Amino acid sequence: MTAPISERLDDVAAARESGRRKMDWAAQHMPICASLREEFEADQPFAGERIGMAMHVEAKTAVLAELLAEGGAEVAITGCNPLSTHDDVSAALDAVDGVTSYAERGVDDEGYYAAIEAVIDHEPTITVDDGMDLVAAIHEDYPELIDTIVGGAEETTTGVHRLRAMDEDGELDYPVFAVNDTPMKRLFDNVHGTGESSLASIAMTTNLSWAGKTVVVAGYGHCGKGVAKKASGQNADVVVTEVEPRRALEAHMEGYDVLPMAEAAKEGDVFITTTGNRDVIVKDHFENMQDGVLLANAGHFDVEIDLAALSELAADTYEARDGVQAYEMDDGRRLNVLAEGRLVNLATPIALGHPVEVMDQSFGIQAVCVRELVENGDAYDAGVHDVPDRLDKEVAEVKLAAEGVEFDGLTDVQTEYMDSWQHGT
Ligand code: NAI
Repeated sequence: MTAPISERLDDVAAARESGRRKMDWAAQHMPICASLREEFEADQPFAGERIGMAMHVEAKTAVLAELLAEGGAEVAITGCNPLSTHDDVSAALDAVDGVTSYAERGVDDEGYYAAIEAVIDHEPTITVDDGMDLVAAIHEDYPELIDTIVGGAEETTTGVHRLRAMDEDGELDYPVFAVNDTPMKRLFDNVHGTGESSLASIAMTTNLSWAGKTVVVAGYGHCGKGVAKKASGQNADVVVTEVEPRRALEAHMEGYDVLPMAEAAKEGDVFITTTGNRDVIVKDHFENMQDGVLLANAGHFDVEIDLAALSELAADTYEARDGVQAYEMDDGRRLNVLAEGRLVNLATPIALGHPVEVMDQSFGIQAVCVRELVENGDAYDAGVHDVPDRLDKEVAEVKLAAEGVEFDGLTDVQTEYMDSWQHGT
């Protein structure tokens, strides 16, 4: 059984101090979580609940975990990706009253799943996932816990896809909120968060410029739109690849070149996959790429770039820089993969994930969803549920107030007009 991170680090005190500083910095820029903290500390809504979490364990997530503990919960947390944990933050979190953290960076598959089991060993009554690994493990290996689970919340697109597939098969046995799909999350986190942090991580890891480069963005969904927009804003030429005709058309109307990957492969300097799908960049594409290209993935799992095929093609492979693996072809071309094809904004050695302000919104939604499960869990059947609009609006209003932004409300006459079908020409 995996032990908490504090029992595995050499200098725990130093790690905790460093992690705590990162958490304090993040917390200073998270007004939504700060507002919820006041409410939760006073009301203790989660007293008696055990919350199991599998998320990217870095500073912003730590603020969420601490917030839930401050609201009375016993929290057990681990990572949702073997490369995205910040060990110092994990150690600082493990020192928080009511929180146990098992997350450690660089664990192998066995260590990754052992930590998930350690979280489940706390017998959670609520799960908070990023990618659905916790829900999957509970259903597959610990179904006896399901009766006492009130519900869950899922952070990302891929996790929601997996949950919906499970639900359609009649296999999802407790209610889960699709946090990813609500406007306050998806229109900000996926678009701006992924756009800004992926480009920042690639630039910092490689020390290379965007200006004048051709950036191929695979997938023009929420994340792809953000990556394309920010790359374009940094003076790169953007090429989009898509499989969905309306998304391809949207990209075309935004002024981007839209090409099949077979063509884009010949033109790109930087490739960023954001599809949530597999085998998006494969052998035929590698064979046509230019020397020196960068290959990065911002989708949830490391299956978008076919690294097995790339390894087979390569005559040699070596670490070109920290976080960059070069694959050298027989003809001398070097294809450079960042972060082992895992989430580039979270898994390079210097990666920090999304900007703090963006995660404040996403985690504000997570926190109010957990509160909703505790207050009204009985109202939700097993299955995937949209986040109630009133919760999304509540979080938006807190954020606007914190930003000092005032906005209009509808008059009674306007409300009546909008609700009526009788007013015509
Ligand atoms: P989305 O569903 O809005 O967009 C995905 C797009 O990819 C769709 O337009 C789809 O048609 C397209 N696509 C699918 N297969 C393709 C292929 N073979 N070639 C080209 N395009 C293809 O999903 P969203 O919200 O943009 O999320 C995408 C992925 O990013 C998911 O895995 C999600 O979990 C992950 N994600 C990552 C984040 C990060 O921090 N890096 C943050 C949020 C989401």
